[in-house]
Amino acid sequence: MNLTLKIWRQKDAQSKGKIVDYPISGIEGDMSFLEMLDVLNEELITKGEEPVVFDHDCREGICGSCSLQINGEPHGPDRLVTTCQLHMRKFNDGDTIFIEPFRAKAFPVVKDLMIDRSSFDRIQQAGGFISVNTSGNTIDANAIPIRKEDADEAMDAATCIGCGACVAACKNASAMLFTSAKVSQFSLLPQGQVEATERVMAMVNQMDEEGFGNCTNTGACEIECPKGISLENIARMNREYMKASLKG
Ligand code: SF4
Ligand code: FES
Repeated sequence: MNLTLKIWRQKDAQSKGKIVDYPISGIEGDMSFLEMLDVLNEELITKGEEPVVFDHDCREGICGSCSLQINGEPHGPDRLVTTCQLHMRKFNDGDTIFIEPFRAKAFPVVKDLMIDRSSFDRIQQAGGFISVNTSGNTIDANAIPIRKEDADEAMDAATCIGCGACVAACKNASAMLFTSAKVSQFSLLPQGQVEATERVMAMVNQMDEEGFGNCTNTGACEIECPKGISLENIARMNREYMKASLKG
C-alpha cells in the first residue's frame, strides 16, 4: 500500500503544532498501525530527520498507552480495539490518514502524538484503595459470597485500561466513563463498601478539578471505548454520588 500520512507535529507543550505530510510506501495489510509508524520513523531517522514521538508499551491492548486520534476517531475505524491492535488492512491503497493526539484540556500534548494522562492517575489515587483486615484475622477472599452477576459486572468495569478514548470521543471531554468504571469495580463488591462514600466523592471531585467536562448522555464514549465499557457504569456512579451526597 502507498499512503499519505498527515501527522500532528509539536515540538513541546509550549510550541504551536501543525500537520505535516509524509508519503509512505510498501505498507502491508498485516502490519499493525504502530508497525506502520515504526517504518515511517526508520525512514525519518535514516534521512537524519526527527522521528514522530508516540506512546506505546504492551502492543497487545492492555496498557492503554497507544492512544491516537486516527481520521478523527480515537483508536481509528475498528471497533473494540486499541491503536496497537488496529491492522493496516482496514485502510486502502492511496488513502490519506490523519493522525493526531487525543484532544482535551486535561490531556496536554507533551510532544507530537504523546499526551500527558497523569490526570487519570490522580483520579485513581483520589479514591483507589480498600481497607482489608490484616490483623491476624484475615478473611479468605473466597469465603465472601458474591453474586455471579455482580462479580461479572465488576470484572467488566475493571477491564478499563485508562486509555482516554472516552474523553477524546466526547464533545465535552468528559471523563465520566473512565471514572465510573473505576468507581464501579469497587462499589459492586463487598470489599469496596467500607470507603464507598468517600471514594466516589473524592474521585468525582478530582475529575472536576482536572478540568474534564460533564456528561450529557451522548454515548460517543461507549462506542469508541476499546474495552466496551458500558454507560451503565455512569448511571451507577451517579447513584453512588447521590447516595454519598445525602449522607453528607
Ligand atoms: S472507559 Fe474505555 S475508553 Fe475510557 S479510559 Fe477506560 S478503556 Fe479507555
Ligand atoms: S500499546 Fe498497550 S494498549 Fe496499545
